[in-house]
Amino acid sequence: MLKKITTAASVIALCALTACGSGSGGAGNNGTNASGDTITMGFAQVGAESGWRTANTKSIQDEAKAAGIDLKFSDAQQKQENQIKAIRSYIQQKVKVIAFSPVVETGWDTVLLEAKRANIPVILTDRAIDSDDKSLYKTFLGSDFVEEGKKAGDWLVQNASGPTNVVELQGTTGAAPAIDRKKGFEEKIAAKPDIKIVASQTGDFTRSGGKQVMEAFLKSQPKIDVVYAHNDDMGLGAIEAIKAAGKVPGKDIKIITVDAVKDGMTALANGEINYIVECNPLLGKQLMELAKKVVKGEEVPPRVVTVEGTFTQEQAKAALPQRQY
Ligand code: AHR
Repeated sequence: MLKKITTAASVIALCALTACGSGSGGAGNNGTNASGDTITMGFAQVGAESGWRTANTKSIQDEAKAAGIDLKFSDAQQKQENQIKAIRSYIQQKVKVIAFSPVVETGWDTVLLEAKRANIPVILTDRAIDSDDKSLYKTFLGSDFVEEGKKAGDWLVQNASGPTNVVELQGTTGAAPAIDRKKGFEEKIAAKPDIKIVASQTGDFTRSGGKQVMEAFLKSQPKIDVVYAHNDDMGLGAIEAIKAAGKVPGKDIKIITVDAVKDGMTALANGEINYIVECNPLLGKQLMELAKKVVKGEEVPPRVVTVEGTFTQEQAKAALPQRQY
């Protein structure tokens, strides 16, 4: 069970980065390389699984256009083999830079070695890869997903009283945000042994997946106090399942999610979600700045972390009118 929330938890984050400023320095503002040719970027996107992803894709497409970068874009429909095919095709087309958000963490070394041998720099955005060879990519731009999981866990530790049964809706199996958000959350709730994860399953970051898994949890679990969903979309699917089971989301069953997209923020402001940890999808501008630099052979930081906040129900009400996505 949860205590009443009394204090605002944290700051509304802006689309800003800690290590990559907005100035383009020696890189210039037009999308050209050192010889004045237009920069061609091949971008292999994960898919269109969530509101977050839609906002991320729009940010990349809009900012490529604004930067004068010729963008070749592919949607992998959440399949690693499709992303590998897309990367190979970008290598064949001799693009100047490849960027991608890896569906899963492992299995990238071979194709990234092919890009390296073709002298095409690679930038990771949003999700990391698990590889010992750090020379396979120039930089990784995106959130700290472990930190996001910790923020979710902290809120629960502060607001839970007595035995609390949590069901977890995990993101795509093997994806960095699913692995890290679980890790960070578990680390924090370990401080209160009364809080137990009684069931945990993947909903693949989709609304339909979240709904389906929650329906099964509601049948198999005699007592559910809290849903921890690794993204808003799965939380929104869980809300549908909870309502269909005759319970009140946000009251009978508390809900914590990650992302803070408009639909999630609306549910938070309406009292159907209790807390959202922000994950910022607006990575396009910083990605184009990094791309110009790596194409020109300039130094970039190996890791660029996105600055993010958290939202309570009261904060969501205040932030919603200005929310861009
Ligand atoms: O990698 C970022 C995650 O992917 C977002 O949290 C989720 O909504 C998306 O599918």
